[in-house]
Amino acid sequence: MTRTQVAIIGAGPAGLLLGQLLDKQGIDNVILERQTGAYVLGRIRAGIIEQGTVGLLDSVGASARLHAEGLVHDGAQVSVDGTRHRIDFRALTGRAVTVYGQTEITRDLMKVRADSGRATVYEARDVSLHDLDSATPIVRYEKDGARQEIACDYIAGCDGFHAVSRQAIPLNKLTTHERIYPFGWLGLLSETKPVSDELIYVRHERGFALCSMRSPTRSRYYIQCSLADSIDAWPDSRFWDELALRLDSDARRNLVTGPSIEKSIAPLRSFVAEPMRYHRLFLAGDAAHIVPPTGAKGLNLAASDVGYLSAALAEFYRTGSTRGLDTYSERALRRVWLAERFSWWMTSLLHHFPDHSSFDRRVQLAELEYLFSSRAAATALAENYVGLPF
Ligand code: PHB
Repeated sequence: MTRTQVAIIGAGPAGLLLGQLLDKQGIDNVILERQTGAYVLGRIRAGIIEQGTVGLLDSVGASARLHAEGLVHDGAQVSVDGTRHRIDFRALTGRAVTVYGQTEITRDLMKVRADSGRATVYEARDVSLHDLDSATPIVRYEKDGARQEIACDYIAGCDGFHAVSRQAIPLNKLTTHERIYPFGWLGLLSETKPVSDELIYVRHERGFALCSMRSPTRSRYYIQCSLADSIDAWPDSRFWDELALRLDSDARRNLVTGPSIEKSIAPLRSFVAEPMRYHRLFLAGDAAHIVPPTGAKGLNLAASDVGYLSAALAEFYRTGSTRGLDTYSERALRRVWLAERFSWWMTSLLHHFPDHSSFDRRVQLAELEYLFSSRAAATALAENYVGLPF
């Protein structure tokens, strides 16, 4: 049996960032991860980083490479049935976003974690949470065939949508809200020059598309696909052909194709479980909420959650007050719901919905028309995209 102050379940960006935010406050913590480090790094996620998230990475010393290699984007483009429009984040909000892959953030946080000397246990199997309503909750797990136990003051569930933390909360203590979208995103990563200096979000009768990037030589593209599609039905050549059909003529001319480095299909989901606390267990990131990727809010929400949680834990260990811990769920959920709304809205604005009537489609086009003709409407998109205050 080992003892720590905070046991963190999950070594994705949420768990690793929380671990280092606590480390900076001198709070002992152990991170348990079911997978290997290599597996965690193999998960490709979005790559738009809000300034608030950058600030948290700065504070734990994990942002040097982000500042050196990340691309600062002052705006993004929206293409509607072949005509491109620009949303100028800088002019509308005074702020910008940084394009830098979540995989790279995880890699940077892993390095800082290793340097800090705090414990991270990879391949921790059969993790289970016990005595959550006592003063000393226990985490049990198995490592290399041996049973292990950690006694702690608090547990942070940062283990994603499918994992054990949320499931440790009795069903009648949790309210869940969910929307499943009737399509998926087929994503492709390639070692090719991006089609544009800025991201292009594409609304097209054939379906949504997104031109994103990881660097000046590495592109990330997505196309809306059917949930029934399998990856085998999408050889690279079919992906590039379908993407080209959805782009405006300028983008189509600039499109450089090449072999995929990674290709995967992701379903789109909106989900919130509340409250984000059960006695001594606190949920953060995907363990408590999922957003569809449109707008790239997932990582940034995980960052604001662990920012609030680390501040609340620091207050408790400094002063003995549980005020921050008692208001954590409410505080985090306020920002979560605003990002849920924005991600749902961006998704609704840009995708082809199979069950839409002609009325629904005309309203979608009117919404886009309003976005491009009203500074107020563009500002509403921009201030959400660059990130609401932490
Ligand atoms: C990505 O680069 O993977 C990405 C960017 C913006 C999004 C979603 C995904 O809205």
